[in-house]
Amino acid sequence: MLILGIETSCDETAAAVLQGDNKNFKAKLKSSVVASQVNLHKKTGGVVPEVAARAHVESIVPIIEDALKKSRSKLKNLDAVAVTAGPGLLTSLRVGVDTAKAIGFALGIPVIPINHMEAHLYSPLLRRSGGEMVFRPETISFPALALTVSGGHTELVLLRGWNNLKKIGATKDDAAGEAFDKIAKLLGLPYPGGPALSKLASAGDPDAIMFPRPMLETDDSNFSFAGLKTAVLYHLQKQRRLTAKNKADVAASAQAAIVDVLTKKTFDAIAVNRRVKHLLVGGGVAANKNLLKSLQKQSKLNNITLHVAAPSLTGDNAGMIALTGYIKMKKDGRTPKTAEADANWEIE
Ligand code: KG4
Ligand code: ZN
Repeated sequence: MLILGIETSCDETAAAVLQGDNKNFKAKLKSSVVASQVNLHKKTGGVVPEVAARAHVESIVPIIEDALKKSRSKLKNLDAVAVTAGPGLLTSLRVGVDTAKAIGFALGIPVIPINHMEAHLYSPLLRRSGGEMVFRPETISFPALALTVSGGHTELVLLRGWNNLKKIGATKDDAAGEAFDKIAKLLGLPYPGGPALSKLASAGDPDAIMFPRPMLETDDSNFSFAGLKTAVLYHLQKQRRLTAKNKADVAASAQAAIVDVLTKKTFDAIAVNRRVKHLLVGGGVAANKNLLKSLQKQSKLNNITLHVAAPSLTGDNAGMIALTGYIKMKKDGRTPKTAEADANWEIE
């Protein structure tokens, strides 16, 4: 079964082709193409929805053509289209969803609406093997825990089986990626802030400033990062002069606070759900090296197998969308025929 994945929830236009086995639970990513709008949004220091949607309109058809070409497949041979239906920016989502519906209608094939955060959650199960990205469902057992950390969401989700998810925690305010982005902005770093802040942090001392670690002692699995941004703002306002070293120290100390909270909350959740032996980590912030080191250390100590999305799949991509479409088709028992964009679609 050949599945086209489409992703346009925010500022990346992406398409991918996944070849899934009909009988066995096996799949291979044949191509994954991403057109980033980063340069477009650098000028405004953030995503302007109308600008993003227009760029999606321009890129979507060439990107799909490119994904088909790279996978050496033809449009007419597709068996299904999986498309991000939410959460995200409504006008951006609609470009992908409407394109998917047009393809589905023209070819008479199913259109599967995919939750963007669910796709980030499954993305670590696409592993590089002999030059290919292969779906490796056999590498996990249930229940497993997923930490998904992106620009708009920070979630802890318990996987009780395929298509059997339960969100056990989320951020009360800013997402982890959003905290990186906002603190980067305070430090005058370019958009997108996450990679820039972590680069600057590598030259700083993570113990220089003790920024707050919110929600660390609560016995739920929720997060809060807005206070950290405010603490950084107050700290910066108090300084008369900021040297390059001071800035690096602020970056390193803020990053350490985010990493500490994400790690502690994740392993607190594992301590409560004691049958969990596998941790999946996906989303843009999963590219953060310090976060990975910290999760690796705790995984080792707690005898947990850690699965982190491959670098090409941490940020927004359509490979994870096509994969989630395949999982739905194989494990859901019913295949949706159409999709509608839902900007606020939450995992429950
Ligand atoms: O998953 P993603 O690509 O898009 C959303 O679904 O939001 O996540 C983007 C977020 C941004 O906030 C970006 O700054 C952050 O991921 N990010 C990072 C790093 N790379 C991307 N944050 C920290 N360290 C990084 N290396
Ligand atoms: Zn994302």
